[in-house]
Amino acid sequence: MNEIKGRVINVSNRLPVLVRKYAGGTRLERSSGGLATALEAGWRDQPGVWIGWAGTGPDEQIEPLLVRAAHRRSYTLRSVALTDEEIAKFYSGFANEIIWPLFHDMPSRCNFDPEYWEIYQRVNRKFAKVVAETAKDDDFVWVHDYHLMLTAASLREAGVRARMGFFLHIPFPSPDMFDKLPWKKPILQSLLQFDVIGFQGDRDRLNFASCLERMLPEVMIERSGPHLLVGQGGHRSVVGTFPIGIDFDAFEQDAQRPEIAAHAAEIRKRVSDDVLVLGVDRLDYTKGIPERLKSFRLLLRRFPEMRGHITLVQVVVPSREEIPNYKHLRREVELLVSQINGEFTEPGWVPVHYIHRNLGRDELLTYYRAADIGLVTPLKDGMNLVAKEFCAAQIDERGVLVVSEFAGAGPELRCGAIVVNPNDFAEVAQALYDAAHMSAEDKRSRMRVLRQIVKDHNVHRWIRSFLDAIPSADGAKGSAGGVSWSQTAGSKVRQDKTMPGVALVAAALSPAARSRYAIGKDAKLRVVSAAAGED
Ligand code: ADP
Ligand code: F6P
Repeated sequence: MNEIKGRVINVSNRLPVLVRKYAGGTRLERSSGGLATALEAGWRDQPGVWIGWAGTGPDEQIEPLLVRAAHRRSYTLRSVALTDEEIAKFYSGFANEIIWPLFHDMPSRCNFDPEYWEIYQRVNRKFAKVVAETAKDDDFVWVHDYHLMLTAASLREAGVRARMGFFLHIPFPSPDMFDKLPWKKPILQSLLQFDVIGFQGDRDRLNFASCLERMLPEVMIERSGPHLLVGQGGHRSVVGTFPIGIDFDAFEQDAQRPEIAAHAAEIRKRVSDDVLVLGVDRLDYTKGIPERLKSFRLLLRRFPEMRGHITLVQVVVPSREEIPNYKHLRREVELLVSQINGEFTEPGWVPVHYIHRNLGRDELLTYYRAADIGLVTPLKDGMNLVAKEFCAAQIDERGVLVVSEFAGAGPELRCGAIVVNPNDFAEVAQALYDAAHMSAEDKRSRMRVLRQIVKDHNVHRWIRSFLDAIPSADGAKGSAGGVSWSQTAGSKVRQDKTMPGVALVAAALSPAARSRYAIGKDAKLRVVSAAAGED
């Protein structure tokens, strides 16, 4: 791993914990969402500082709570307080009413309010100020996600000399989509001040490179080893693909606990002794929940023999509730649930069980273990950790994963999963029917492959590969996967079809892991040798 002499300073809008206010006071909750879950799992036992927002307005009670939360962590938590105006215009506004829908290819949901941009710049400077107070020259500052795309420029202006990286947890859009953003150039220019820029998949990295080529033609891009090297002015950035994962071993171990198995059996007895289908999502319009419900309804209409024998448990965690699009979504989902239940419920069988709350980890694991089918059908997603968590918890290799081709995890998991287009309700209904009728042997061989892939692509490997891409401190020579910093950059983007990435599972795996799989005559991926520990 590239040597970091100092600490890693993680910077993200969300901290791993969330301060919730109640009439009686405040309390801490675990943050949901892929970023918080993955970093929290990967960061265990590593010293450092995590800088972020605790999910509430300025409140003197926050610091003691964060100090207490840091007691059982190896890093400290430092909060950035946001005013009510900043929460409304930076978090809900610019981040989640402009960037989130645009980057998920849903421009009609964007509200391009120019005031949002003003506040976005202000809050990025605010985060940068806290980082500048914290970071030393030999630290590595790792900024996460779309809320903080301008921090690099502010950090350099504030005199921060530490090396800096940025990872985008959500998709990066195509040039035609990104072009719609009035502030596209300053965002690209600021991103290029990071030393390493990471994306979930090759789709995202190619989109980013294409945007640079179209919108900043003066920038020089060339391929170097597994990464791209992008030069702007006197600075060069390594641009790479680093698909995120989960802490597979922790999920597997926890799922094995006897009390989890007992609760899972209890749920099956109470909800469905037959086929239990599970959806777990933040309540977000990108997750395709109404489309999923319509597909399930179509299944019950087309295959009447399934009625009474298949049950959908849809768990949603409330999310971004102040934003109108999210309020409408909740109403739409709840209406659909009640319509389906109204149409099909029979004595002793309710087709859709709907849970609207943040589940504790054990409860979540219990549902993962109880399920026969994991139904993960986002319309677009950076990665989707729920798909991976479901596989990790399938210790008895009994479950089937149905996954959207538009999830970041879709291409990576396609060899063992049933891959669907979430907009094709008939296809999803058929996939559920097929999964419900799949032989135990087929289920086992598919799940075995999936679990091996999720195990290999774990969160620890994600962190290592990102940190390995950091150029060395002298700035002259980089050790990022063979990147030579003395090379003369070319002026064209090379969209090389051979670029490694998740699109081809075999290519996405490390050389050591690659030898563990073989493509069979039936075009399915098979595990041919056991994992030899971490690669
Ligand atoms: P996103 O980051 O867009 O929310 P991911 O699937 O990558 O999507 O990550 C979601 C994370 O949030 C997962 O780790 C999942 O376990 C967690 N999560 C989702 N729904 C719930 C819920 N109802 N209760 C608790 N955790 C949840
Ligand atoms: O994993 C993607 C992500 O967008 C994170 O950046 C974000 O923290 C998470 O989903 C949940 O969203 P929010 O922070 O708005 O609750």
